[in-house]
Amino acid sequence: MKTTRRNFVFSMLSGAAIIGGASLSDEAIAAQSSRGKALVLYYSWSGNTKIIATQISQKVGGDMVELDLVKPYSRNYNTCTDEAKRDQEQNARPELKTTLPNLAQYDVIYLGYPIWWGSIPMHFYTLLEQNDFSGKTIAPFCSHGGGGIGRSVSDIKRLSPNATVTEGLSVPRAGGSSLSSDIDGWLSKIGLRG
Ligand SMILES: Cc1cc2nc3c(=O)[nH]c(=O)nc-3n(C[C@H](O)[C@H](O)[C@H](O)COP(=O)(O)O)c2cc1C
Repeated sequence: MKTTRRNFVFSMLSGAAIIGGASLSDEAIAAQSSRGKALVLYYSWSGNTKIIATQISQKVGGDMVELDLVKPYSRNYNTCTDEAKRDQEQNARPELKTTLPNLAQYDVIYLGYPIWWGSIPMHFYTLLEQNDFSGKTIAPFCSHGGGGIGRSVSDIKRLSPNATVTEGLSVPRAGGSSLSSDIDGWLSKIGLRG
């Protein structure tokens, strides 16, 4: 049976999100030095994951890198969902354009993505297969349109068997007013806060 299109609630980020260049708190600096350097590595098609990534980065410090693709997905929503579905069905490995920093310098990698068809977009397969995450702690976080975190964390675990993958943070769209406290709660729960 062909999966019906857009069988999930999806609401795009509306309005402008202004991300300020907030400086790190003393707690973030202390956490960073006791735990080694953090990398917030994310992809965002319509901006929601980017908002979450920015807040996480302000709390944990370290570097923030956005993933780009050699052939970006269409900016048209319907076309993008079709392309993403096709890539999932074909088990594709979309090529990454971003040159990653040397992962050896990081202990914890916060990995952020929008949920696409119940899991990670296929370029996260490319990312996790083509780079060595052995010995790293991967802390997954996602933005979704109502369907939750889906299969994404188990797929990440399968693709990075030599990494420690924490419980994921599941955020509807851009998280709203509770985003900051939701992130704090998640960081505490997975033992990566303060
Ligand atoms: C190709 C595609 C597939 C999607 N699949 C799902 C899904 O399976 N479940 C869900 O809850 N939301 C789904 N969504 C909605 C996105 O996860 C949601 O809008 C998210 O906030 C987008 O994050 P972003 O702004 O960082 O791209 C999908 C969106 C797109 C474009």
